[in-house]
Amino acid sequence: MLNTIGVIGLGVMGSNIALNMARKGEQVAVYNYTRDLTDQLVEKLEGQTITPYYEIQEFVQSLKTPRKVFVMVTAGKAIDSVIGSLVPYLEDGDVIMDGGNSHYEDTERRYDELKSKGIGYLGIGISGGEVGALTGPSIMPGGDHDVYEKAAPILTKIAAQVDGDACCTYIGPKGAGHFVKMVHNGIEYADMQLIAEAYTFLRERLQLSVNEIADIFETWNQGELKSYLIEITAEILRKKDEETGLPLIDVILDKTGQKGTGKWTSIQATDNGIPASIITESLFARYLSSLKEERVVADHILAGPESDEQSLDQDLWIEYIRQALYVGKVCAYAQGFTQYKMSSELYDWDLPLQDIALIFRGGCIIRAEFLNSISEAYQAQPNLANLLISPYFAEKVKDYQMGLRKVVCDGVNSGISFPCLSASLTYYDSYRTGISNASLLQAQRDYFGAHTYERRDMPGVFHTNWQ
Ligand code: 6PG
Repeated sequence: MLNTIGVIGLGVMGSNIALNMARKGEQVAVYNYTRDLTDQLVEKLEGQTITPYYEIQEFVQSLKTPRKVFVMVTAGKAIDSVIGSLVPYLEDGDVIMDGGNSHYEDTERRYDELKSKGIGYLGIGISGGEVGALTGPSIMPGGDHDVYEKAAPILTKIAAQVDGDACCTYIGPKGAGHFVKMVHNGIEYADMQLIAEAYTFLRERLQLSVNEIADIFETWNQGELKSYLIEITAEILRKKDEETGLPLIDVILDKTGQKGTGKWTSIQATDNGIPASIITESLFARYLSSLKEERVVADHILAGPESDEQSLDQDLWIEYIRQALYVGKVCAYAQGFTQYKMSSELYDWDLPLQDIALIFRGGCIIRAEFLNSISEAYQAQPNLANLLISPYFAEKVKDYQMGLRKVVCDGVNSGISFPCLSASLTYYDSYRTGISNASLLQAQRDYFGAHTYERRDMPGVFHTNWQ
């Protein structure tokens, strides 16, 4: 019997995707460049319909036409080399899917090259990590719609399911799927940093123990902050180090790595005049964190404020930080969704914002309860300029903004850095400023560079002889 799908790349993600497909009744062919990973997967199999191949030609020939090959290898040159080895054995109408974190511009190049050969190409954003890959990730496919339709029955089956809906939807042409995944990761960076800042406040300002903070996160996860990242934060804080018995969080070195997707999000936003300040701050916070040795030296040289002996009312401030975190999250998602909207117009993609919010409700890292409200906001106003001005979020943020102000002010006064909480507040206040100081910048530009300016009271372009 011919196989219904092939998976190339049997690292943890690829193996789990293959197992997921097999569990959903697919007949899966698997192949890896080195034999060892294939053998490791084979050892784990217990009656799943997965057949290993050790020659790429045999692997391809074992597939039912139109052939569908799901590639799950490290983004970059490895994808090009896999494609290169597949192409000689593929025919018109076959489909290659890239499920890695590829840059969307690479996906567009590959799409064009394969289209000219008659081979369909889907750039598929996959979120959910190892567990998601096995039990149901969030899936963001981009490419030609007719090509998507060939793969859709399998993709929707292996995706996470929420309220009977698959967390998989057609995103748009060419690189749109990988673009949506890239910005998902930008939001993920911001969300993680905001949570870390809330943790810092609870620990350093309210002097709570790691366990008490875990309890707070657990409670928050039962309310409107309910989300995967809040949930795992509570679990992380409960974990003890086996060596020392200390909370594991206190043993982990405070230097953050990154693999590039958050950086690409910032670069794309910067290149295209899209305000993604919270996402970018979260990236810079990672860069600053990695200057660990310098930070330790600076800690002994640079002064902070005099310590404030005044103790804070715990219950009140736990509520303020909850509100601050909520507003920060809304602002971060608002920036990500604005990036979708502006890029969709720029690239003529027609991104389905309402559906993107829906498929983020399950499987992915940024899954959160309030994505239902985000989706509803776009359903009510498909051309909504910014989530912040949707009636639901405008009201919520109006109620909670004072919590964010109090926490940011307290951080400023006590010398705690809140890169993303303060960026959220700045974004919120800048966005609601109808008349801004940009007039002064325009005047300065015109003064020293004759860059000209427009007037508020009449059309046209003006220059003043300032001296
Ligand atoms: C996901 C994750 C996943 C991953 C990235 C980002 O959606 O499943 O975003 O793709 O976590 O590798 O990781 P970095 O923090 O290393 O950039």
